[in-house]
Amino acid sequence: MLTDDLFTALRTLTADHSVENMFLLADENSQKFCLSQVTKVLNIPSSHIYIIKSGEEQKNFSTVQSIWKFLIENNANRQSLLLCLGGGVVTDLGAFVASTYMRGIEFVHIPTTLLAMVDASIGGKAGFDFMGIKNVIGVFRKPLKTIVFPDFLLTLPSRQLLSGYAEVLKHALIASPLELAEVLNFDLQSFKIADFIEILERSMAIKEYIVEQDPEEKNIRKALNFGHTIGHALESYFLSENKELLHGYAVAYGIVGALYLSVKKLNLNQAVLQQVISFVKQYYGTITCPCKDFEQILSFMRHDKKSVSSDEFRFTLLRQAGNYQIDVPVSEEEVREALDFVFNM
Ligand SMILES: NC(=O)c1ccc[n+]([C@@H]2O[C@H](COP(=O)([O-])OP(=O)(O)OC[C@H]3O[C@@H](n4cnc5c(N)ncnc54)[C@H](O)[C@@H]3O)[C@@H](O)[C@H]2O)c1
Ligand SMILES: [Zn+2]
Repeated sequence: MLTDDLFTALRTLTADHSVENMFLLADENSQKFCLSQVTKVLNIPSSHIYIIKSGEEQKNFSTVQSIWKFLIENNANRQSLLLCLGGGVVTDLGAFVASTYMRGIEFVHIPTTLLAMVDASIGGKAGFDFMGIKNVIGVFRKPLKTIVFPDFLLTLPSRQLLSGYAEVLKHALIASPLELAEVLNFDLQSFKIADFIEILERSMAIKEYIVEQDPEEKNIRKALNFGHTIGHALESYFLSENKELLHGYAVAYGIVGALYLSVKKLNLNQAVLQQVISFVKQYYGTITCPCKDFEQILSFMRHDKKSVSSDEFRFTLLRQAGNYQIDVPVSEEEVREALDFVFNM
């Protein structure tokens, strides 16, 4: 639920849960920038507030254990409510901990990054990274409620905003030509929350609609993987080289690769590819491949269970904006061509 009235949204939680039995998980930045706006409405005991360090490195089993421990030591019970205030790292971890603590307690998401608002806090996936593999341990479980307060975006660094905006672009591409035009024409340079609300609301609705049709990702939810086959491989490759590449940036480049393949294999109109390339270049810049060949990137793709079937790759591609096809077989040669295209756009 998107709201400009955080006070009322938070107060409604007290109808079923006493404030004394609420717990809150945040990270350093959501603590710094957002926590006081929650605690001035809900006077949660300070011993019930747990702050983790920020960053994807924290999304691991040791953090999960420390949150379980914190709940046990502070006598959380089956009636307790866990508020997850933060970006996708906090919502993924908080949802997993709440889903497993005493066989599951209720939790509420209060996303504070754009990526968490339009993506991570919707769809009921929770989990953490293990043995170097992202999100490999997890569950499906829905929050009691999700409270989206767009003003939290005001303190978000611009590259984090852009990272989330790549998912907004992805949602527009799988939704309709009209939505795509809105998202490509939005002025990100002078980002104004009031002008962004409608796009934000529609982007959330696109994800909600798709996960409602296919909650456990058996078929059409794979549409949300658009741009992620190449995107995830780029992300993993950069990580393995100790070079930072934010998820959304990797997705933006992955989208260009997927659009290239869509033109080649499903006759997508070239104009869509060209419009998205100029948008990506303007805001995300270009990417160079620090590798001699694409072997390592391809090997990450081969390990991505969503992208591989026997020895072929499987992509979600577009015939036109809003008209996608899941599980399109793509040969290794075609993937190499797409990577070459992305690194030379
Ligand atoms: N469950 C799902 O379906 C799903 C979907 C997409 C992504 N994810 C997960 O989400 C994670 C990425 O989420 P993310 O991009 O939000 O990362 P994140 O949680 O690491 O947040 C990004 C950065 O922004 C900071 N931050 C958070 N709120 C802020 C605010 N209001 N002002 C200033 N700084 C703020 C954080 O401390 C962090 O440094 C990944 O782990 C990814 O796997 C999950
Ligand atoms: Zn993503």
